[in-house]
Amino acid sequence: RLRGDASPAKCTRQEQRWRSDHGIVDARERFLRAYGRLRDDLVGDDSCDLTDEARRWLAQMIDYNVPGGKLNRGLSVIDSYLLLRQGSEVTEDDFFLACVLGWCVEWFQACALLLDDIMDDSHTRRDQICWYRRPEVGLRGINDGIILKCHILIMIKKYFREKPYFLDLLELWSEIALQTSLGQMLDLIGTHTGADGLAKYSIEGYRRIVKYKTAYYSFYLPVANALLLSGAELEDFSSLKDILIEMGIYFQIQDDYLDCFADPNTIGKIGTDIEDHKCSWLIVQALGHADNNQIEVLHKNYGKKDSSSVSEVKRTYAALDLKV
Ligand code: FPP
Ligand code: MG
Repeated sequence: RLRGDASPAKCTRQEQRWRSDHGIVDARERFLRAYGRLRDDLVGDDSCDLTDEARRWLAQMIDYNVPGGKLNRGLSVIDSYLLLRQGSEVTEDDFFLACVLGWCVEWFQACALLLDDIMDDSHTRRDQICWYRRPEVGLRGINDGIILKCHILIMIKKYFREKPYFLDLLELWSEIALQTSLGQMLDLIGTHTGADGLAKYSIEGYRRIVKYKTAYYSFYLPVANALLLSGAELEDFSSLKDILIEMGIYFQIQDDYLDCFADPNTIGKIGTDIEDHKCSWLIVQALGHADNNQIEVLHKNYGKKDSSSVSEVKRTYAALDLKV
């Protein structure tokens, strides 16, 4: 299903069937119900003496950025946890704890996307204008991203402090935060527009960027949370990590394709990879298959903001059969 990291979506029939085949019913509805409780707790947290105005900002900022996506990552915690617990009773409290970790992943995603949109000069996300582009927000959005990140630790401490796997959870989350930030750094370093800009791109470099910026937090993090919650040790599952990372790389390849060729109304965002001179899967493939003339066209037009340059690049991709 090519939807990319984009607009909110209802559960597809296929997903519904998969969940019911595995005895997982109402997971999405129950997951969504937990959101209001977590949001209200964070907004009402009295460890800081906030003004009413500040609490209103916080509530609006969370509602705008956190719950409006496809929720695949958060639901992946729930689905994985329920599969791991098959055969034993999952109480309401157990389910709620899975929801807390699922929402922590969605909070992480909201933080990453909010900040990424500033760095990528993006316009829309999840069918709405990017948070930082709202006139009352601007670069204050950076601080909002930091707040979303801090919320994750607050939730983990509140619900898991007494659990035997608390330290493992903290280690997991800090490791993934570093990996994702380093992945974003690799992505941004790769956006040079100098003479050797395109020549630096390779499939190995591409895989390194997307493994860190996307795969760890999108695919490994949800399953690792479910494993810890069900009492497993992460070091017993190293090959699982390898498989999930491959899935994450494949997912980002789809995201890159959609950035260029999908209808923004379908994916809920306007692509900027060509304008931003990104090391996207498409440019790596194009460079590997282009003749000398096409290479020249790509060098001349890649990373330019004007629409005719962007069209030239897209035409070259299509001529190289990169458009399905
Ligand atoms: C989207 O990629 C961006 C990411 C996958 C990661 C961004 C990461 C950061 C800003 C670091 C965040 C750090 C923490 C600790 C949360 P993309 O630009 O290819 O996708 P897009 O088309 O959806 O924008
Ligand atoms: Mg982006």
